This record gives sequence, C-alpha cells and structure tokens, in this order.
Amino acid sequence: TVFEATCTAPVNIAVVKYWGKRDTSLILPTNSSLSVTLSQDQLHSKTTIRASADFTSDRLWLNGIEESIEKNKRLVACLRETRALRAQIEEKDASLPKLASLKIHICSENNFPTAAGLASSASGYACLVYTLSQLFQLPLDASDLSIVARQGSGSACRSLFGGFVAWEMGEKADGSDSKAVQIAPETHWPDLQAMICVVSDEKKGTSSTEGMQLTVKTSALLQHRIKEVVPKRMEEMIAAIRNKDFPKFAELTMQDSNQFHAVCLDTYPPIFYMNDISRAIIRIITEYNKDGVKAAYTFDAGPNAVIYAPEKNMAEIYAVLSHFFPGATFDDSLGLLSKTSTLP
Ligand code: DP6
Repeated sequence: TVFEATCTAPVNIAVVKYWGKRDTSLILPTNSSLSVTLSQDQLHSKTTIRASADFTSDRLWLNGIEESIEKNKRLVACLRETRALRAQIEEKDASLPKLASLKIHICSENNFPTAAGLASSASGYACLVYTLSQLFQLPLDASDLSIVARQGSGSACRSLFGGFVAWEMGEKADGSDSKAVQIAPETHWPDLQAMICVVSDEKKGTSSTEGMQLTVKTSALLQHRIKEVVPKRMEEMIAAIRNKDFPKFAELTMQDSNQFHAVCLDTYPPIFYMNDISRAIIRIITEYNKDGVKAAYTFDAGPNAVIYAPEKNMAEIYAVLSHFFPGATFDDSLGLLSKTSTLP
C-alpha cells in the first residue's frame, strides 16, 4: 500500500518583521512578528508526500530536482517531530496503520521562481508540515502545527493561517509557547490587497538565516528594537487591523520596514538588501501619500517591494509605478493583486 497526501500553502509578507533568533536550532525569535497571508491563486507551494513499505530511504525532490534530506537539519527536525506525534497515536490505537516507521518520498514545488527572493521557505515549510500532518492524520490545530513549521523556517509558522497572523515569540526555552495565532481571518478586511514589485530576480547575497544572527551579535539598534519598539508596535498593529484603519496600518508597516533595514545597516559589517530602485519606490510612495495615506511599502531580505493598499487604489498605484519605471521589471506574471486567503 502507498499512503499519500497533497496540500498547498500560501506565502506571507510580514508587516512587523521577524529578525533575530534567541535559539538557532529550535528557531525561537527575539521578537514577535505579524504578517498578512497572500492569496494562493498566484503564489503557493505544493507538496505531495508518499509513505510505503517498499521505499528504502527518505527522499526529497524540490522543483523536480532531488536534494539530500540528511544535510538539511531543519527538514530532519520537521520529520522527526511529526513522526514522533504519529508514533504516539499509533501506540494508543492499534487499529491504525503503522506509518511512523515507513520511509517517505517528498515532492515539493513552488508555482513562482524561488530566485525572485520571495518567501519561498515560508510557504515551503508550512506546506511540508501541513502535508505531513494530513498524511499522519495528526490531531493538531494550526497553532500546534505552527510550532513544528517554525523549526523549518521561522516565517513558515505564520503561513499555517490565512488572513492576519501573529507569531508570538513566547518565553519558554523549549519553544512550546512560540507559535502562530490568527488575529483576523481573510474575510475581515477583503478590501486590503497586496502588489508585488519584482525589482530583481537575482538570488540575495546574505541569507536571512545568516544575516539575522550577525545582527543579533553586532547591532545595538536591534536591542532597542526588540525591547522598546516591537512590543508596542505589535499592539498598535493588531488594533489597526481590528479597526481596519488603513492609514495607521500603513504607517506602522512602513516604519517597521524602515527600522528592519536600519537594523541591517547597523549590523557590522552592514547588510544591504534594498537597492536604488527599492529606495526610488519608497520615495514615490511617500510622495503619493502626501495628501493622505493611500499605500504602504514593505521590503524583506531583498530589493523587491510589496505594496499594501485598498483595492480601489491599486490601478492608480500600478500606473504611477509604471510611469516612473517605463518598461521596468514589475513582473505581473507573479500576480500583482493578491487577496488574502487561507489554507485548503
Ligand atoms: C525579513 O523565516 O527566512 O522575511 O527562520 O532563518 O528560516 P529563518 O528565516 P526566515 O526570515 C524571514 C525574515 C523576513 C521577515 C519576516 O518574514 O518576518
């Protein structure tokens, strides 16, 4: 017999950024964070996992190319955790098929270019863990699963929910309280949309994983951010989302992106993720917002911009950006307008 499960999972883009770990193997963050989950229509990861007594080893294919599992500690951790949970339920119920001891084959792909520097690890690990939970029929809710997905990639824990999602940093050393919770479902604010501006599809220079630990080691500004700024900003952001207060949501989003990149600059040696085009986008949006806030920009660990705005402004924003970057590589093949949505 072959046991099989297939799932898809969405990308999320943070509006209060996660940057810094207090435990690098369990992936426990130095601050809480908050993100918006994008629609799966344009961007998603898709994973199929099979378990069979005929398989002689665990194997993994990423976008059609076989990769080593053993070298990937994070993937090994997600497998170990979900198998242990499956073994527990098999112990209690002898009628269940013995899946925990079977070898598995994992096939995972993104429907967008990994090189575009978009959050492929977030949707990828969320998808892996969700598919494993389906295959193993684990009696866990999305927050429980987020604790496992977090050990694949921190930002992945937030992709277990649709809508507006907080990753509560927690305080315990074992990470059992460092999990994702939904602040509001996607139906709460359907008018809010995201536009992705692909400034460059080159692979980023410094990975998030390496970059953030260099920041933890060397940046005094990070200490100010995690102690003084983020706790208050999380509360304000949650209130802005609950009230659907776009100007406040936008202000906080842009300020948090700016501070994240300031913290990168304060890292020694400094890390630059934005380029001249990224900075031009900031100036254009700032000018566009002069008479009232109509759009928010945010940048992750790369030069690409994500613009959040009410749906009615999106056509105008696209026109303004295309005006300043005629024939530029704003790649609408990635899907410019994304409504928020949820896991299948
Ligand atoms: C800038 O989740 O990719 O996108 O936990 O080491 O896998 P690891 O890092 P990752 O970092 C994401 C950083 C960010 C901000 C965010 O998504 O909150």
